[in-house]
Amino acid sequence: MSVAEASPALAVEALVAGYEPDLPIVKGIDASIGQGDFVAILGPNGAGKSTFVKAIAGLVPIHAGAVTLAGRPITGLAAHLLVRAGLAFVPQTENIFASLTIDENLKLCAGVMPAGKRSERIAAMYDLFPDLAARPTTPAGALSGGQRQMLATARALLVEPTVIILDEPSAGLSPKLVGEVFETLARVNALGVTIVLVEQNVRAALGVARTAMVLADGRIVHRGPAKGLAEDPRLGEMFLGHHAAAGETA
Ligand SMILES: Nc1ncnc2c1ncn2[C@@H]1O[C@H](COP(=O)(O)OP(=O)(O)OP(=O)(O)O)[C@@H](O)[C@H]1O
Ligand SMILES: [Mg+2]
Repeated sequence: MSVAEASPALAVEALVAGYEPDLPIVKGIDASIGQGDFVAILGPNGAGKSTFVKAIAGLVPIHAGAVTLAGRPITGLAAHLLVRAGLAFVPQTENIFASLTIDENLKLCAGVMPAGKRSERIAAMYDLFPDLAARPTTPAGALSGGQRQMLATARALLVEPTVIILDEPSAGLSPKLVGEVFETLARVNALGVTIVLVEQNVRAALGVARTAMVLADGRIVHRGPAKGLAEDPRLGEMFLGHHAAAGETA
């Protein structure tokens, strides 16, 4: 077995990260995400979920620790190099070009691939997202929230990542659209892509993920199977406990 096959899809070791050198937001996280897993990252507002995934994606400075992708060190690599290494990141906002059409958005992303592969990959994305295939010439800015998330996800998947990280793709969507976006993620996962999903929408995320991690104050306070966690009374405590500890509740 090669190193890549034997290694987790994504692993972080003793990760410390934050926006200012003397102000860690991620305060020492160890996590190993298996190939093909679907992980939901949950936790109260301000827990450091976005900072954690942005640090992995090369968008927030890492102060200490290590990140590996299929056994290969990627700590602190610039975002565009991470894409080439197989790690895709879909930020919560500003993840599409609103003034360009769906097709132009996809073609722009495909530009980093060998010319011979581009049209094949764009066709594969239209197969995966029939809603986008139905209106390739529509400007992205005219799409619904759910369609925009699908376009952002398609852009990320175009270059065939092994791991895709999404930061709150359901934010601002109606329950019906949340369901559609999550069903699409389940299909992507079924194709073998490892998924890391940061979510506020706890119930919906636990309904689609296989593994759950709960963050509070920059640390992992729980990790385990997603199944059953929504009904576990400890889940509420993990969210509320943090607020009580921070003095935000009486
Ligand atoms: N660009 C930034 N510069 C400085 N501090 C930031 C920045 N973004 C976030 N923070 C701080 O980092 C901490 C964690 O924020 P983060 O956005 O990672 O939390 P989160 O768990 O994603 O919360 P939410 O559920 O609200 O999205 C907060 O105290 C926040 O104020
Ligand atoms: Mg966030």
